[in-house]
Amino acid sequence: MMTTVKDRCPGCDGNEQDERYDELDKVIAEYKGKPGALIPVLHAAQKIFKYLPEEVQDYVARGLEMSPSEVYGVTTFYSFFSTTPQGEYKIGVCMGTACYVKGAGKLIEEIEKELGISVGETTPDEKFTLVQTRCIGACGLAPVLTVNDDVHGRLTPDEIPGILAKYRD
Ligand code: FES
Repeated sequence: MMTTVKDRCPGCDGNEQDERYDELDKVIAEYKGKPGALIPVLHAAQKIFKYLPEEVQDYVARGLEMSPSEVYGVTTFYSFFSTTPQGEYKIGVCMGTACYVKGAGKLIEEIEKELGISVGETTPDEKFTLVQTRCIGACGLAPVLTVNDDVHGRLTPDEIPGILAKYRD
């Protein structure tokens, strides 16, 4: 019989019903024992769970036979890993120099007002997460914001409600 990490995890009973852990087991089995396994496994785990809560980090640690603190260290070091729930749409407001001087701060204020959240937070309906980004290489369009893969440039605060409305529906 195949042994999965769940068999070695006395605290994981509640997860037996959660098919996401089955998916994660497959990824762990694929990478286990290979050099540099942790980052691709965490990437896959984040894709499966949408973020990396502590229980998932612990699960990965057990699966790869690493210490939880090692996994936590990597998860928190890289900005592309998130330990809090993420919205369906990630709004990134560029705070690089060009965007900053052209009023990116005002865009953030308007988004915060519209969504009722601050930078780093997710709306209660898990629709939007608001973050600040570094220069994304579109300085000619400053100030710029991204919504997932979409880029919106040369923005003024009064355009924010219209942009959000597109993604709300
Ligand atoms: S500073 Fe914002 S895109 Fe470069």
